Amino acid sequence: MQIILNNQSIRIDEQQLRLPLLSWLRETQSLNASKEGCGAGDCGACTVLVGSIDNGQLRYQAINSCIALVGSVVNSHLLTLEGVSSNTNTQGELHPVQQALIDYHASQCGFCTPGIVMAMLAWWLNTPANPMQSAQDLALHQHNIEQALSGNLCRCTGYHPILQAAASLAPHTMGADNASGKNRAQIVELLQTNAASDQTLSYQQPSNEEALALAINAAPQAKLINGGTDLGLEVTQRLETQAAYIDLSAVSELKQIVLTDEVLSIGGGVTFSQLETYLGNLDVASQQLNQDMAQALQTLLPLIGSRQVRNKGTLAGNIANASPIADSPPLLLALNTQVVLTSGMTNATRQLPLAEFYTGYRQCVLQAGEYIREISIPITCQQVRLEKISKRHEDDISAVCVVMAYSLTNGVIGHCQIGLGGMAATPVLAKKLQANLLGKAPADINQQQVLDWLQEDVTPMSDVRASSAYRLQVCANLLSHWLQQPSNNKGEAAA
Ligand SMILES: Cc1cc2nc3c(=O)[nH]c(=O)nc-3n(C[C@H](O)[C@H](O)[C@H](O)COP(=O)(O)OP(=O)(O)OC[C@H]3O[C@@H](n4cnc5c(N)ncnc54)[C@H](O)[C@@H]3O)c2cc1C
Ligand code: FES
Ligand code: FES
Repeated sequence: MQIILNNQSIRIDEQQLRLPLLSWLRETQSLNASKEGCGAGDCGACTVLVGSIDNGQLRYQAINSCIALVGSVVNSHLLTLEGVSSNTNTQGELHPVQQALIDYHASQCGFCTPGIVMAMLAWWLNTPANPMQSAQDLALHQHNIEQALSGNLCRCTGYHPILQAAASLAPHTMGADNASGKNRAQIVELLQTNAASDQTLSYQQPSNEEALALAINAAPQAKLINGGTDLGLEVTQRLETQAAYIDLSAVSELKQIVLTDEVLSIGGGVTFSQLETYLGNLDVASQQLNQDMAQALQTLLPLIGSRQVRNKGTLAGNIANASPIADSPPLLLALNTQVVLTSGMTNATRQLPLAEFYTGYRQCVLQAGEYIREISIPITCQQVRLEKISKRHEDDISAVCVVMAYSLTNGVIGHCQIGLGGMAATPVLAKKLQANLLGKAPADINQQQVLDWLQEDVTPMSDVRASSAYRLQVCANLLSHWLQQPSNNKGEAAA
């Protein structure tokens, strides 16, 4: 097993595979530029770039190295700030991203700066050249800069100079770049040569479902890991490393997204960033995907973690983690989503509504060796409204997440599904409230009624994020506001 670390290939021993990547870099490779701020994926000081082959092209993504395990980056090109700096030094000049941060005085104590350079570099590498001819292009460019840096905290400089430094980089000079010293062709060749490397039982990374079944049968007690953005915290915060992992993130069949007339089907290894890109490239007007539904998905995704978290975290992991405050289940419940589960032991597959997936606080129906193969969202014409209530807009945990999908028939509610997060021990549907709303004209429903009906469904807890009363009130306010102000008339079904 090998990693191309900056300019050299490094052989990885089995006992290193389950170490946090940041500790491995700093303690075994003496690469100390990546910093440990929070150790929990929240501050971005540890950001590194991972290059892997995607559709034949080498593509780099920013990740938080503190919560990634070494095994998850085997057979990829790992680029740290040392790699960027050693290359630029030989040419006698800094990388433009570094130079811009100096020019705009965007660093004071410098603790966050390595992570900010790497997050900006990922954005630089992935942004195609654009002459920025319209105001819309410029606004999107600014938004993308903010998204790229949304996972990086700076406690002394202030964000204004950092954002200015990024904005100063002329967009038409961006895109293809060799930040590591080796050229891309050399790296691709090395990655392809390394790909068929040996596997170990303590960290298996199968590349297809057949190999996944073999891996599960060989190590039935192994923990399934996908992006590791939840499991990585077990290692760094609770110091609980599992004896063996099976990594789902390279299983090709689980990386598919398929849109038909009936469903949007998302594979069990698809990351939030991949889904964002897919939806961003979709021409909604010419596709079957209902515009409100596409918009709701596109609204939710940027609210989940940061760019670094979404580059690794998956929709399947968000469901399987069975957290009551996971943000995608309320939307998926409201959209009547089905999950397809496959057993690696028997190869048997079953499909069930997401509403039947959760069995209790952090509990679900998954059996040992069973994995989420597919998440299947029916395409229907309805209005979809969504709100995540949290203290910060980006990279924050929900106090409440509420989603309502409904349609009107002859002016009355003909269909209604309300998904709630942060309101019970699991993500839930507000079934009694839904039943009470059916057949009523939105104008005839008042806020107090919504609150009374909601309390028949849930009794939320009070915690540091919000009190029980606040959670109920904010949900009732949102739902009644949406009912009084429909987004448009697309949800009005034909009489
Ligand atoms: C800084 C930070 C910010 C975050 N912000 C948010 C946020 O805003 N909203 C939010 O909802 N979450 C957030 N999260 C939580 C996390 O990113 C998500 O829950 C993510 O979707 C987990 O996916 P993963 O692939 O990383 O899961 P992993 O950590 O790999 O796995 C999580 C669990 O799911 C299981 N699992 C994973 N994939 C499968 C599969 N295909 N089949 C069966 N079991 C599987 C694993 O065995 C494990 O039990 C945040 C996390 C961090 C570190
Ligand atoms: S150290 Fe804060 S995100 Fe990794
Ligand atoms: S420069 Fe000190 S934390 Fe950013």
